[in-house]
Amino acid sequence: MSLWNKHAIFEKNSIILVIGILIVVSIGGLVEIAPLFYLRSTIERVQGVRPYTPLELAGRNIYIREGCYNCHSQMIRPLRDEVERYGHYSLAAESMFDKPFQWGSKRTGPDLARVGGKYSDEWHVAHLANPRAIVPQSIMPGYAFLAQAEVNVNLIASDMVANRRGGVPYSDEQIANAAQDMRAQVNPDSDHVRALQQRYPNATARNFGGNPAAAQGVVTEMDALVAYLQVLGTMVDFKTYDARANMR
Ligand code: HEC
Repeated sequence: MSLWNKHAIFEKNSIILVIGILIVVSIGGLVEIAPLFYLRSTIERVQGVRPYTPLELAGRNIYIREGCYNCHSQMIRPLRDEVERYGHYSLAAESMFDKPFQWGSKRTGPDLARVGGKYSDEWHVAHLANPRAIVPQSIMPGYAFLAQAEVNVNLIASDMVANRRGGVPYSDEQIANAAQDMRAQVNPDSDHVRALQQRYPNATARNFGGNPAAAQGVVTEMDALVAYLQVLGTMVDFKTYDARANMR
């Protein structure tokens, strides 16, 4: 029996065939995937991308809790119609601190990767409370309760620790000041705003959710969610971003 007849073993026994397929496919997979963990250019570092502030991170948690991703992707593909509608295509680095990432292809509503700065805070508050008040044909659910729901500012530090275990470079100082930073970001008159901005470059502090008790240290889920939406896609300055400079 020559070597070329040996495949009969596989053809007569489906379990051996399945094992054979698994071995061949996993060799192919390893050859394709393993180098990506070692190539520096897999996720190029891009200037401006920083971890979320405690308030933005809390907003991201609400976004995930409410299942916004069921209708909204955060990934602008490098196709002409997408770029014309939403702006510069998404870079991998823009999601490098998103654990888990919010890419996707399910778009019942528009892509949100660059919604930051597109509308005012008031627009978001009114739209989230009752989307049909702004867009009459909208099928998006209302989230008016977010304005009444208070965020427990003491819980976010443990979330940051969990993110750090997943690779987000939160410093001990950022974690120790999490509650204070979160209160400061909704209260632009706070003495702590400057420290917040030192820890998180380009973070803006304002009363995102129209929250009447922001100055008393109360943070609402509306504040957090709007702060998150307003930072999406704004960290990289595409006026100075040069794709080729990052290809090394
Ligand atoms: C059932 C699907 C659905 C869900 C769930 C949903 N949305 Fe929407 N969303 C839409 C649709 C459809 C639109 C477009 C019409 C409109 O503006 O209301 C939209 C529009 C938006 C816009 C405006 C985007 C733009 O560029 O004009 C934002 C911001 C937004 N949604 C945020 C959210 C957030 C935050 C959540 C979770 C709290 C959420 N959506 C949940 C369907 C949904």
